[in-house]
Formats: sequence, C-alpha cells, structure tokens
Amino acid sequence: MTWTEALNYARTRLEEAGFPARQARVEARQLLEHVTGAQGARFWREARAELEPAQERRLQEMLERRATREPLQLILGTVVFCGLELEVRPGVLLPRPETERLVELALEQLPPDRSARVLDVGTGSGAIALALKQARPQLEVYASEVSDSVLELARANARRLGLAVAFLHAPLTAGLMDLDLIVSNPPYLPEAYREGAPPELAWEDEAALYAGADGLAVARPLLAEAAGALAAGGWLLLELDPGNVHALAREAQQAGFGEVAVLPDLAGRARFLRARR
Ligand SMILES: C[S@@+](CC[C@H](N)C(=O)[O-])C[C@H]1O[C@@H](n2cnc3c(N)ncnc32)[C@H](O)[C@@H]1O
Repeated sequence: MTWTEALNYARTRLEEAGFPARQARVEARQLLEHVTGAQGARFWREARAELEPAQERRLQEMLERRATREPLQLILGTVVFCGLELEVRPGVLLPRPETERLVELALEQLPPDRSARVLDVGTGSGAIALALKQARPQLEVYASEVSDSVLELARANARRLGLAVAFLHAPLTAGLMDLDLIVSNPPYLPEAYREGAPPELAWEDEAALYAGADGLAVARPLLAEAAGALAAGGWLLLELDPGNVHALAREAQQAGFGEVAVLPDLAGRARFLRARR
C-alpha cells in the first residue's frame, strides 16, 4: 500500500465507523502524518512511497482505536495548545481550542513588560500555566491540581518544554496570597450533560468535566477563595459553560468583585467570566 492508498483506506475506514466525511478526511491525514513522520508538503512529495509493514500495522491499530471513539489526541499522544506540544494520556482533560482564548484574555490583563504572580487552578496537562510562561517568561507562574497522576503529567510537560512553573498538589488557590491574576478552566459541566455526552468524553476523568447540578461546584468555592488570594486590583478569569457563566457573574458582583464581564468564545457563546478584586 502506498501512502496515498493508505490515506484513502484510512478515510474510508473512518467513514464506515460513522465519522462525517470531512472529519474522516482530516483525521486520516493526521494519522498518516503521524505514522509516516512526514508532515505537510513533505507528505505529498513522498506520497508514492510504500508504507512499511510496521507502519501499516500501527495505522490499523490506530484506526481500530478511533473506531471505538477513543479521542484522536489520545491515540496520537499529544495535543498542540497555544503552539506547545503537550503530552496527554487517558484521565487528563484534553486541552480545548476555546481555552486558548482564555490564555489570550489572561495575557491582555497583564502588563507585557512587568512580572506578575499568576495562578492556574486545575492545571490538568499544564496547558494554561505553560502557555502563559512560554508567552511571558518573566511571569511567576503557579499551578494547582488535585489529581496526583495528572499533576505528574503536567510536571513532565514542563520539564520537556523547559518551562519553570511551580506545580502545587493542592485544591483551588493552594493557600497562595497576593496574586495578580487567577485563571482557571475548572470542571464546569452540569451533571445533566452526562446524558447525550459524546462518547469521546469517557476517556477523560469525570472529575475534570462535571461539577454538580449547576456545574459550579468547583467554580463557586474558587470565587470565594479568590477574593482573599488576589491582591487588590487583581483579576479572576474563568472559563465556564454558556448555561452557568451569567449566574456566577451575578455571584461575583454580590461578592464585591468589580468590572465583572461575561465574554464570548470564538463561536460567540458566553464562555468566560472576568472580574476584578
Ligand atoms: C476542565 S479540567 C482543565 C485542565 C486544564 N486547565 C485545561 O484547560 O486543559 C479541570 C482540572 O481541574 C482539576 N480539579 C478539579 N477540582 C479541583 C480543585 N478543587 N482544585 C484544583 N484542581 C481541581 C481536575 O483534576 C482537572 O485536571
């Protein structure tokens, strides 16, 4: 089988497994690039080469995994987030494109030429904390996480990328004080979302996704702690669900936060809460 034939085979196999044609085409290409190690123009230059038997077996195994709805990112083992290649594994939340906007919003609140104390709550793979440190090396970046194994993965990502983030195995604000910015993509799905959730979510830790009946079981105590952990004038930035972000915005106002704003994601859905202490 040549690379081109393998590409067509993979696309057809994914379509047969129920993926829409466009998604099957894109994912087949990603799998072939991974298996051959040839990306972009190089892939097409060499597309008449024969796939080696070991590569063919690997492709077959990956296609079977994808057909069971295992997320493509887990099969490939990595996710690119804000330009950083992060290792991922089952149980960790797979960083999502909308969270890249959260990183941009965080950077907008921080003066580009000064240091600041920043905390990423519920760091998962380390995505937000590492992206902030990469963008602004002068920042003092902390990251909290309650899951031991997930924190290990975040530390490994930081080591591999050579980025200095202080990871803390502790809940919420981890007892830190005088922070200039707290950013978090906490678990925020309401329990009711379990029904009808895409099968891919089964590979991620439930505790990273769901947060009680209204999805605010982690964000609400975080809001309460943030009031004490932020320096005067410090910012809180949260990613939430379009169904609960306005409710927490009202609670932020009642708790004495100022400049409370609900901001959209790239699809125009109410997604982020920004508030100032
Ligand atoms: C939605 S995931 C976000 C992961 C990562 N920040 C990202 O955007 O890809 C939420 C993370 O928060 C962690 N978590 C849940 N409750 C927490 C708590 N009380 N304190 C700190 N982390 C928590 C989960 O283990 C999970 O890794």
